[in-house]
Amino acid sequence: MRARALVVPRSNGEAVRRRLREAGLLRSDLEILAEDDRIAFPLVTAEGAPGEMGEISEREFREVAPAAPEDYRDLLPGTAMEKERLPRSFDVVGDIVLVRLPEDLVERGPEIGEALLRFVPGARIVGADHGVHGRERRRRIERLAGSGGWRTRHRENHVELEVDLERAYFSPRLAREHARVAAEVRPGETVYDLCCGVGPFSVLIGADGRARRVVAVDANPDAIGLLRATVERYGLGGRIEALEMDVVQFVADRPPAERVVLNLPHEGIKYLPSVARAVARSGRLHFYEVVPRAEREQRAEAVVGTLVGGAAWSVVEWHLVHPYSPSSDLLAMTLARGPE
Ligand SMILES: C[S@@+](CC[C@H](N)C(=O)[O-])C[C@H]1O[C@@H](n2cnc3c(N)ncnc32)[C@H](O)[C@@H]1O
Repeated sequence: MRARALVVPRSNGEAVRRRLREAGLLRSDLEILAEDDRIAFPLVTAEGAPGEMGEISEREFREVAPAAPEDYRDLLPGTAMEKERLPRSFDVVGDIVLVRLPEDLVERGPEIGEALLRFVPGARIVGADHGVHGRERRRRIERLAGSGGWRTRHRENHVELEVDLERAYFSPRLAREHARVAAEVRPGETVYDLCCGVGPFSVLIGADGRARRVVAVDANPDAIGLLRATVERYGLGGRIEALEMDVVQFVADRPPAERVVLNLPHEGIKYLPSVARAVARSGRLHFYEVVPRAEREQRAEAVVGTLVGGAAWSVVEWHLVHPYSPSSDLLAMTLARGPE
């Protein structure tokens, strides 16, 4: 845009900029222009500008790009109080954005979707997340804005996973857990990743290379198909075996492994006695469970109490992964099988 300018030698640039700003004469909607050894300042008006410091002239200036909003809600109309009622958080999985909408905001879904699509860099589609359902924990999603399906690649802990949010479970909120467990693997271990979903534990452990072997098991054929696609892309077929199988059937005839992950937080407890038998002596079991908040302090010891059958079990540590509902939490427990 063409505008009135004060053009000064570069050596005076900073002093002039300060003077113009203090006098309210510097236009903030246009970018200051650097020429070889001179600087051109866009002026609100030439009146009162320190013409003695340079030359009053005209220049073509670039417009200053509007500052990106810090909150997607600023892209929507409404008062501050109305915006406060909109969902604050959302999840990003690859190029997909998921948002949970309370009942009273369902009608505003499409405009919330459009705002998120504009706000999240690289977003392709936005969906209303209706939670995971059934044994296979498939997600129900309703498109709010954008286009395409729910398959994507999600980068997490330096690996890129094949994900299809409608067909197989995946949550980006477990990234730290995946990394934490992978970091605990010792050289030469065999790892069983039970209820592996699309395999975030397995792929990270396999890619790291310390484990001798990883066996990933899930009853959902779509989850196993996605995991196999990731394994193939990384050329990890020699280290990671992905099996479509029921967890009980799998542990029935397998030799014990040094490390076992069981991430089936609502009903894993019913498989725990058989899964525990698949843990080698001195091995570790990483168990996840959704627990009523009031019980969480005692829960890990109570879980160990269910593990009868010869070997001594103990709690190495437990921690909160994240709150699950207003009255329950997702806990991670590391349980150790004794040497005897
Ligand atoms: C919470 S999700 C898995 C999460 C995955 N470990 C992760 O970190 O992303 C639970 C998975 O258990 C699988 N599942 C449920 N019951 C099963 C069973 N009896 N045997 C094998 N897999 C089962 C579901 O298909 C689902 O993929």
